[in-house]
Amino acid sequence: MTSAKKILCIGAGYVGGPTMAMIASKCPHCRVTVVDIDPERIAAWNSDELPIYEPGLDQLVAAARGRNLFFSTDIEAGIRENDIIFVSVNTPTKAFGLGAGMAADLQYWEKTARQILAFSESSKIVIEKSTLPVKTALAMERILNSRVNGVFFDVLSNPEFLAEGTAVRDLEQPDRILIGSRETESGLKARETLAEIYANWVPREKIITSNIWSSELSKLVANAFLAQRISSINAVSALCEKADADVTEVARAVGMDSRIGAKFLNASIGFGGSCFNKDILNLVYLCRNYGLEEVADYWESVVKINDYQQERFIRNMLGAMFNTLAGKRICLWGFAFKANTSDTRESPAIFVTRRLLEERAEVVVSDPKALKNARMDLAGSAGRVSYVEDPVRAAEGCHAIALLTEWDLYRHLDLRKIFETMEKPAFIFDGRNLLDHRRCFDIGFNVYPLGKPPLTHF
Ligand code: NAD
Ligand code: UGA
Repeated sequence: MTSAKKILCIGAGYVGGPTMAMIASKCPHCRVTVVDIDPERIAAWNSDELPIYEPGLDQLVAAARGRNLFFSTDIEAGIRENDIIFVSVNTPTKAFGLGAGMAADLQYWEKTARQILAFSESSKIVIEKSTLPVKTALAMERILNSRVNGVFFDVLSNPEFLAEGTAVRDLEQPDRILIGSRETESGLKARETLAEIYANWVPREKIITSNIWSSELSKLVANAFLAQRISSINAVSALCEKADADVTEVARAVGMDSRIGAKFLNASIGFGGSCFNKDILNLVYLCRNYGLEEVADYWESVVKINDYQQERFIRNMLGAMFNTLAGKRICLWGFAFKANTSDTRESPAIFVTRRLLEERAEVVVSDPKALKNARMDLAGSAGRVSYVEDPVRAAEGCHAIALLTEWDLYRHLDLRKIFETMEKPAFIFDGRNLLDHRRCFDIGFNVYPLGKPPLTHF
């Protein structure tokens, strides 16, 4: 067990909140405070309705909150009173100026560094939890150690690898914890201090260390590799549709090779989420900055295939539905970027809805957890959109169902009853290959899976 520590996290988002709740839960002798500039978010963390949905998170927070886990807007006091500071603010893609659409927007990051400098009265360990371009720690160090007043900062990189929807499990049983530091005496000591915290529940052999640049880069590369697998199988799904092959069968055969592995080979309407797109673009931008054009082009193709896959889904719908969607009612099953989360950031469903509206279709959005976010994402969209939580009611009177998120509940619906209430011919476009396609066909649907021959009654 480690000695008692006072830990702060700046940024109470999808990473900051759950990660600190896990540390508080596993280190009851440590005091953990999470601060944010957004008072509404902090109020939600202090309420019974947490700002994010994650299986198991409510219980985790409830057990530690008020004991050794605190949520606050007092950033100044947080910085002054704590010795170990995680920084988990957002690092979106830059939307303006040089590098717009590609580079990371580091304004929140730099503001935080300046706040830490302004309010610190003693030396601290500052930990990069956010995903950042390689060499960000250098800028951080330069800002933090720009004053000669006896206060010294060690900067560590400790990227987070949790996935939404499984955050609690991923935090409790991580594949690895990565800690990068300067290889100075003080850097190595700071590295060990952080390792000791994780060692309260993570086996030592899973806590790996590296130089700080390798750590920063490993996070971008891990996401790029994961996304690359999805783009690879999605590219293959297009070929399967032409060649009468079945992408699920191909993925199974390929994934059984232990060198390749079975995970992340599910063909889909494309990857979404707040990170894959932004992190790959960030990697591409870095490569271009270093003059590595071929390397940049290679990684950029992962994003291009992802865009292509989303557009392909719409074109397949159009082609199947007699080249017009105008005036047709299309029901979307799922709006979150993946199952078990309310997060809709960069969800392919946003693209699909906008394209359907462009084609003058009427869209009925259904999702068990993400309707609030869907409403915000689609606010101001021209066209007819309605929101119905119940997937059965949402499909009533529709010409087609497009399944966009792999929520388990869609496997267990009474499809026969749903078919009865729909316009005919009724279509299902399964963007996740979740349903029993043969059964849907037997009920009467025209079924368009991904990367498999369609089952149609024409
Ligand atoms: P988020 O947008 O949910 O949370 C970031 C929080 O930081 C917001 O609540 C925002 O108000 C706050 N913030 C911004 N500037 C601040 C400041 N100056 N002071 C205090 N608070 C401030 O983002 P997130 O999804 O938690 O991601 C955070 C970082 O972690 C990103 O770099 C992301 O790439 C990385 N990451 C995210 C995930 C994920 O699953 N979401 C997983 C691994 C890594
Ligand atoms: C991803 C990584 O998995 C995490 O390790 C990482 O920490 C995180 O990004 C991050 O840096 O933010 P996340 O985006 O939450 O996590 O979720 P994933 O499970 O990776 O799914 C991402 C997208 O890929 C989803 O839209 C999902 O539906 C899609 N996907 C995933 C597929 O289309 N096929 C697959 O086989 C797997």
